[in-house]
Amino acid sequence: MKTVVFYYTGTGNSLWSARQLAEKLGGAKLLHMKCADALAAGEAEVVGFVFPVHVWGLPLPVVEFVKKLSLRPETYLFALAVNAGQVSRTLVQLQEMLARRGLKLAAGFDIVLPSNYIPWGGAAPAEKQQERFAAARARLEEAAACISAREAGPVEMGPLWQRIVFTAIYKMSFNQVHKMDKDFWCDDTCNACEICVRICPAGNIEMKKGRPAWKHQCEQCLACIQWCPQESIQFGKKTPAYERYRHPEVSLPDMIAGVGGR
Ligand SMILES: Cc1cc2nc3c(=O)[nH]c(=O)nc-3n(C[C@H](O)[C@H](O)[C@H](O)COP(=O)(O)O)c2cc1C
Ligand code: SF4
Ligand code: SF4
Repeated sequence: MKTVVFYYTGTGNSLWSARQLAEKLGGAKLLHMKCADALAAGEAEVVGFVFPVHVWGLPLPVVEFVKKLSLRPETYLFALAVNAGQVSRTLVQLQEMLARRGLKLAAGFDIVLPSNYIPWGGAAPAEKQQERFAAARARLEEAAACISAREAGPVEMGPLWQRIVFTAIYKMSFNQVHKMDKDFWCDDTCNACEICVRICPAGNIEMKKGRPAWKHQCEQCLACIQWCPQESIQFGKKTPAYERYRHPEVSLPDMIAGVGGR
């Protein structure tokens, strides 16, 4: 096993990025961070981390995963921070976490794809999405060239003001993540298919009286609201009017298989 890529994803952008990269690298083993053993990369020569940016930093499950990692110091490490245009300090945060474990992040790339943060608005127009997919493909090409050559690449970051202001917000909100599910609710179109239960990477949803109920162990990935086939799941007051977003080349079975096919 030469290259292992650990990923985390809510709407498929990071899974798509990880797959594209694996293809350009001539193959890599893709493992979902929530299902993989953090020791699974053991003898790999190259290890990658591909994940969305959440609230201008690393998603909580990524932080938890990195804390459990055990790798040889000489392993070539890279990361893709998949985001909607504000990577802020996310890759530096990862670089620092790895350094505390005696590991070096050789390269960290900022990959911009459509936003899945539906509380702030629905999916972007198809044309805008296509522009981002095309730009991301080119960026992934650059990343793959750097990784293939085992070069020390950039660790990309947003502007200073973003790193100061948004990192403060990240730190303040980090401990609230689990409870953000209090604003989810389900409308009458639900047909009790249980896809939300199966797709949730945190096992945070259970069915109660034929409707989903959230257990306050949420990771804010937004998979449940974005993938519900009936669009029955809502967050706050505005989402009934918003269009859902999922990466068009990632399927529901891909997502469910990623979290263990429950
Ligand atoms: C809780 C949450 C917070 C987010 N925060 C940011 C952010 O700080 N900066 C940004 O550019 N995108 C942010 N986004 C958007 C995602 O990073 C972006 O849509 C990403 O491509 C989603 O990847 P995924 O489909 O693999 O989950 C956020 C999304 C979520 C769900
Ligand atoms: S995925 Fe949607 S329709 Fe299916 S049980 Fe969940 S809320 Fe109901
Ligand atoms: S409850 Fe929804 S948003 Fe929270 S972790 Fe599960 S799928 Fe993601």
